[in-house]
Amino acid sequence: MAAVSSAVPLTVKGTIRAPGDKSISHRALIFAAMANGQTRIRDILPSADVHATAAALRAMGVDIPALSEDFVVRGRGLDALHSPEQAFDCANSGTTTRLLTGLLAGLAGRAARFEGDASLSRRPMKRVAAPLSEMGARISFEGAAGHDGLPMRVSGQPLKALRYVNTHASAQVKGALLLAGLCGGVEVTIEEPVRSRDHSERMLAARGVRLEITDTSVTLPAGQVVQPADVVVPSDPSSATFFAALAAMADAGELRLENVCLNPTRTGAFDVLRRMGADIVVEHSADVGGELIGTLVVRPSSLVGAQIGGAEIPRCIDELPMIACLAARARGETRITDAQELRVKESDRIRAVVDNLRTLGVEVEEYPDGMRVVGSKTPLSGHVITHGDHRLAMAFGVLGALPGNHITIDDPGCVAVSYPAFWRDLTTAVGLGRAPAVAQGAGAAPSTTPLVVAIDGPAASGKSSTAQWVAQLLDVRHVDSGAFYRALTFLATETGEAPEQWTAETLLAHAGRVTWRLTERSVLPLVDGVEQDEALRGTNVTRNVSRVAAMPPVRLWVNTVVRSAGAAVDVVVDGRDIGTAVFPEAQLKIFLVADSWERARRRLIQRLGRRPNDAEIAEEVEALVARDAQDATQSAPARDAITIDTTTVTQEEQVERIVALARATRDRLHQ
Ligand code: S3P
Repeated sequence: MAAVSSAVPLTVKGTIRAPGDKSISHRALIFAAMANGQTRIRDILPSADVHATAAALRAMGVDIPALSEDFVVRGRGLDALHSPEQAFDCANSGTTTRLLTGLLAGLAGRAARFEGDASLSRRPMKRVAAPLSEMGARISFEGAAGHDGLPMRVSGQPLKALRYVNTHASAQVKGALLLAGLCGGVEVTIEEPVRSRDHSERMLAARGVRLEITDTSVTLPAGQVVQPADVVVPSDPSSATFFAALAAMADAGELRLENVCLNPTRTGAFDVLRRMGADIVVEHSADVGGELIGTLVVRPSSLVGAQIGGAEIPRCIDELPMIACLAARARGETRITDAQELRVKESDRIRAVVDNLRTLGVEVEEYPDGMRVVGSKTPLSGHVITHGDHRLAMAFGVLGALPGNHITIDDPGCVAVSYPAFWRDLTTAVGLGRAPAVAQGAGAAPSTTPLVVAIDGPAASGKSSTAQWVAQLLDVRHVDSGAFYRALTFLATETGEAPEQWTAETLLAHAGRVTWRLTERSVLPLVDGVEQDEALRGTNVTRNVSRVAAMPPVRLWVNTVVRSAGAAVDVVVDGRDIGTAVFPEAQLKIFLVADSWERARRRLIQRLGRRPNDAEIAEEVEALVARDAQDATQSAPARDAITIDTTTVTQEEQVERIVALARATRDRLHQ
């Protein structure tokens, strides 16, 4: 939860490099997986949505390393893609679901079940299922009768050509049909009333695929192959929009937004902001890999309401929550129409934005296809319900960073879907003294580039106690990812349902009740807003937590939460796959090892409170070795991790060594 502000005028300053574009990131992975050969991908967006696509492709046999700033995918072509053994967990990601549905549809003989979180499961999939079924794919919905959402089963078949006239502009539908055409080797034409974002077309052209493009249609001739091509992902204009809006609403200063993708199908929000009076100048622009990239300089100005509708809606659809929040601070009225599509995004964004603005004291009216927002200078205050929707958290986070407003946000961590470091960047933009929203825990203001020390290692290697001690000596916060698994386990035990019956789905149904707070010492999980430290350590929880932590969708959720928690402040984090999957960009990664006899001995001392005998140790070694085998994939050291063998050193010595390494890293970082 987060509270913000003072009435001191807001001066913005600095340069924000928003993370990689989400649409391009998904497509970079998918096209790399389809090609036969190496694709080097730089600056991908390492967010929860993109992780979901990477995980799904890995489950089909594609060798995709942990997402980092610069990595290579070694594609082996379409024939090497196999059916996943388990259902795809698409988490919150509509793009993952719809694009991969298209991919699978054309892979005859291969099939997958798609699952997602509660929000994604509510979203309509008929828009891709109907045309793909017309091409010959077999797609069935497994939920309640008449519900065209996840869970869904897609079975690839030999396809036939299709000319599809879509009634609304959708890049996900267009992308899915192009992928089906490529995998099935057949011609497809997609007509749209207005051109939707055209990253698929640009990226395919760069990969040797011939397309015939008109203003409102694209045709993929039959029998084409995607060639490998390197990609540098530009910054996401949807993410940059939050900072353009912040700068436009500030009192003084300027923000430079660098490396922004200025593809004309994506820049509607900047046009709208300009029409509302925003001072936005493009300083440098260049064509990089088929996309126009530029630096925007945005300065405060007086803002007026606007009419937004018609053909410009697809060009600013994802930015409308931010535009609506900005309208609350503009002179006069803003009307948004023709945006009914907003009702089926990560939340019903019309209802959710209207309700939240009204709660904060804004005069607002809901339309079936949009809203009317009346701007004012009245201080806004209240609690925002995000419904787990990343763009709502960020839009209201920006509003909350303005002087005089007092806004709390129920689930700030959900920004991890598209912009894990959002709160850190917001803190940078508004200045350290005015740490907004989630960054406003007790203790020191966050540094601009937070230090992340990631401590990993096999069971009983002493990760947690070491991390806690290291954090204390460095005077930074400790994040114990295990505590988040414990929080879910605790909620599941409370239902009385037998642990054998728990599934990732039933467990994650409780995820909305788990939030976190920054204390002086740690990132503390809260259950229903309350600290539950003792309950989380209870025997019932301890007995069942490893069952919970073994479920991949649960891991994905915890990783996402831990990432967003750690993105704002300096942290020492420990846990399985922390240095590989959760914080691949951590500046210091430690992998603790010790021989199994020593680990067993330490664990028993902790458990029994006395020195164990050799027979007891031997028995514990067996259990540990079995657990190591089970955990092998999840506990491999990151390539750049420093391995410390603690078999013959005291805990004090190993902590000292890590602290020394961390201090040196921090000095380098803050030079
Ligand atoms: C996306 C397309 C858009 C957009 C979404 C990402 C894509 O949805 O809202 O966030 O990457 O193709 P549509 O399918 O409505 O175009």
